Parts: sequence; C-alpha cells; structure tokens
Amino acid sequence: MAKDDTRTDHGTGGETHQTAGGPHETMTTQVGMPVSDDQNTLKVGDRGPHLLEDQVFREKIFHFDHERIPERVVHARGYGARGYFELTDPLSDLTRADLFQRKGEKTEVFVRFSTVAGNKGSADLARDVRGFAVKFYTKEGNWDLVGNNIPVFFIQDAMKFPDLIHAAKQEPDRGFPQAQTAHDNFWDFISLMPESMHMVMWIMSDRTIPRSFRFMEGFGVHTFRLVDGAGKSTFVKFHWKPKLGLQSVLWDEAVKINGADPDFHRRDLWDAIQMGDFPEWELGVQVFDDAFADSFPFDVLDATKLIPEEDVPVRIVGRLVLDRVVDNFFAETEQVAFQTGNIVPGIDHSNDPLLQGRNFSYLDTQLKRLGGPNFNHIPVNAPRCPFHHFQQDGHMAMHNPVGRANYEPNSHGLGPRENPETGFTSYPAEEGGAKRRIRAESFADHYSQARQFYISQTAIEQANIANALVFELSKCEIPEIRARVVSHLLNIDAGLAEEVATGLGLTDMPEAATPAKPVVETEPSPALSILAQP
Ligand code: HEM
Repeated sequence: MAKDDTRTDHGTGGETHQTAGGPHETMTTQVGMPVSDDQNTLKVGDRGPHLLEDQVFREKIFHFDHERIPERVVHARGYGARGYFELTDPLSDLTRADLFQRKGEKTEVFVRFSTVAGNKGSADLARDVRGFAVKFYTKEGNWDLVGNNIPVFFIQDAMKFPDLIHAAKQEPDRGFPQAQTAHDNFWDFISLMPESMHMVMWIMSDRTIPRSFRFMEGFGVHTFRLVDGAGKSTFVKFHWKPKLGLQSVLWDEAVKINGADPDFHRRDLWDAIQMGDFPEWELGVQVFDDAFADSFPFDVLDATKLIPEEDVPVRIVGRLVLDRVVDNFFAETEQVAFQTGNIVPGIDHSNDPLLQGRNFSYLDTQLKRLGGPNFNHIPVNAPRCPFHHFQQDGHMAMHNPVGRANYEPNSHGLGPRENPETGFTSYPAEEGGAKRRIRAESFADHYSQARQFYISQTAIEQANIANALVFELSKCEIPEIRARVVSHLLNIDAGLAEEVATGLGLTDMPEAATPAKPVVETEPSPALSILAQP
C-alpha cells in the first residue's frame, strides 16, 4: 500500500490502519454511506462517553449480534461443494424426467455431506451415519436426492423420528455426549426398537467411520417411482458409487484423527477439489415393477430393508463430479435447504411412511431455520430454470409478482398459467382401506436382513462389528440395556451374541428376543462388504 494510503490514528497511539486507496473500495454501511473510521466509536471528548447516535457502530454491532441462525436439528455438521451430474445412459425408457433424457448432458448440482447426531462444532470422524444430499438444478425445477451413506434406516415410520434423535443426541440433563453412539439413552431406545437392528449392524460396521467423503457410497434409501411419458410407473432405488471405491478407517485411527484434526473430512474434500483431483461418483438405479415388489419377501416401502444387488442389479446411468468449492460457507453450505418434497415431473414418491413424514419435516424446519417462507430466494436454493408463480411477500421477499395481477385466473391476460401437458402430475396409484394408525404385517421381520448383512462381511469386518458393539455398549451404565441388545443379537448371529456377551462380561446369556416373524435364512451378499468388493 502506498504511503499516501495510510494515516496515523490518534485514538490508538499512532498505529497505521488500512484505508481505501489503490485497488481497495471505500468501506460503506449496508445502505452505502462511506465510512471514515472503522476503528473507533463516536465519543464525547477524548475518553467518552460513547454516543448512541453512532449509526456506524450501531449497524455493525447489530449485524454481528444476529450472525447465528439455528443449526439444523439433525445433520448440523456438514460440508458442501458444487459440481455437475452427467448422464451416460438415458433413462427415457422409464421416466420423463428431463435430466435423464439426453446422453452427455450435464446438470448443475450442489452436494452437502454431513454427520447426523453431532452439533455444528463436533468432530468429523465420529461413528455416525453420513448424509449425502444432492440438489440437481434441472430444467424442470430442483430435484433433491436427500440420502445417506447407509442404504437403510433405523425406523419404519416418521412418528418415531423425534424419539430416535432425542435418544441419539445429548441427554437433556447432562448435555453429553454428542456425536457418539456410546451412551445409555441411544442403546436404551434402540434395544426397545427391534426394527432398528438391521441399521445397528451397519452403524457398528466400518461404514460409519469413512476414510473421507470421497470413499463413501450414497443411497436414496426409500423406494421412489419413475414415471414415463405415458404415465407408466416403475419403482426405483437410487445409489451413488464412489469412483475411488470404499474405504474406512479403524476406530483407533478415528479417535486419533478426531483429536489431531477434527476437520479431517472437510479438509480432505476442500484439498482434493482445490488440487484438481475432483471427487466422482456413479449414479446407479435399481428398478423393479409391482410383480417384483409383490414377490419380494420384505416390503419395498419399509426403509429398514434393502433390495439385494444380486436380486436387482444396479444400472449405472451417470456420473457426479464435484469440481468447485463454495465461495462462501454460510451463504451456500449453511443456507442450502434440501427437501425430499423437491421432485420433478417423471419422479414421484412412494407410500413409504418414513418418506411421507420427511416430506413435511424438511419444509417445516427450514421455515424456522432460514427465517421465513422465502428461503428459496436464496441463490443456492433458487432454481436455475425460469420460474413463475403468484406467491408473494413475507420476510425477505426477493421476487414478487410484477404488475397488476397476482392471482389466477385473471382477465388482464397477465402472469403464468398451469400447463396440463408438461406440469407435474402425481402417479395415480390406486389406494384404499380403513383410516387407521397401523404398521403393516409386511414390515414385521426385523432380523433377517440384519443377519444377511452380518454374514456378508469378511472375518475382519465381523470382528470390527463385534469390537464396536463391545466398546459402545461398555459405555452403557445400565446392565439391563446391554443384556437387551445381546438378546437381539441372538436372533442375528449366535456367535456374534456370544462374543459381545463375553466382551461385556455378562455372566448369564439372556434369552433371545421374541421375533415377530421367524428369521429367514438368506445368502451372503458380497455387495454389502467393503473388503470383499473389488
Ligand atoms: C436433514 C428430518 C430421515 C437424510 C434433516 C433435517 C430434518 C430431517 C428436520 C434438517 C433439515 C434442515 O434443517 O435443512 C428427517 C425426518 C426423517 C428423516 C423427520 C424421518 C422421518 C432421513 C433419512 C435420510 C435423511 C431416512 C436418508 C435417506 C438427511 C440428510 C440431511 C437431513 C442428508 C441433511 C441435509 C443437508 O445436508 O442440509 N432431516 N429426516 N433423513 N436428513 Fe433427514
């Protein structure tokens, strides 16, 4: 900076401060008034008092006071990046969704990876599920595939989600631990919810301590629908497969890394993109029709079940490349609002009772988290395609209807109109039956797929699961909870139950929990193992 551009400030004993000049723009207030002094408040005399009249200070401190917004109620710690999705195998035979029509076409995306239970300042390498949320800015609106790195979930019905999260997060009196599965409340709840046993096998596996985001799979989890131009529907499960393959760390490594660098995963993603080593995933789909769904021994609407890749192979249809870091963490990664409700023509929801609950929850929570109904005006959430509607006003409205008419129909000939040809139509599934609070009988088998996952692991992976269970349960202070978990393990694998019971020093082996349905003997599935994969 040239000498002319500095000045001596009497109020701070003669240090120099940066002032506008050369390439620097003049600092202003939010409303554009040039600022002459950004070091000192306005005072009477040399030593005060400070004047309330000081509008420059008032504005600066007022804005600082309001910098924080509520963190996400789950998935609070996350990291985002930009990139594109490129279609390699069009799905026009199955869906009219515009992004799946033309081979080679690229669609802009925003991706946010996250942990679930930890607060915003928690460590990256906690044993936890990872969120894998992708916003596709398609030509027919935003499609959000809000997935995880595990293909199944803890619970079957959205009614239990608040209980699950309360049990997993800090205990209300002591406020600890966070981002850890090692505590009484988590295992108490889980052990009382046999439907969570399949997910328990996954979270105790190496999948929940990934080497980095770049080495993780992603899953849409629920069964969705693809709908073609003639209105025909096919069920679909979405998969992300990392180009680098799957890798995890060991628990001892995770603990050391968390201590040395709690930002390990976000730093890894930032560094890889900045070095031009762009992370990449393939998008795969498992598609199946009603006949398969009816013949499948589990319910395809049950989010605690997966469809084995041996039964329905994954068809690779495109690639996701992350090639840009964000310009601003808060503007993009914090303010991005993913919603399972954001779907586009050609993609539809199924009746999965967990998915149906999510469709309400995301919109509702974002209304609060992002301060009003206009969060889709924030650039990271706004569509990239033209959009026209009559919604107006509310806090922070950035786009309002232009001109006289803000309603439809109107005889001024103004504004947009619905389009039955191209507009979104729900798949007209035939539904019927009594209105009741009920869990279908087809959701009742809680152990068969847990067992299938366990027997699909290599001996090393099985040992890691047993060690993780012993470690986590040894932090439980209440002996009955430990025994109850072992009573479920007896329905999954007797050897595993024995190992965990011995590791915990249980003197008597508990009775096996009574399954609601007999456990089905299934074959191992190599796709479920990290180490067995090429
Ligand atoms: C985030 C609710 C199940 C994946 C969230 C948020 C809520 C929520 C309230 C915070 C959103 C925000 O503040 O923007 C629910 C409910 C569920 C459920 C009620 C079950 C009834 C799931 C499942 C998955 C999932 C099954 C995976 C398939 C995610 C992801 C995020 C998230 C990835 C983070 C999105 C981001 O990065 O901003 N969920 N969730 N959730 N949820 Fe769920």
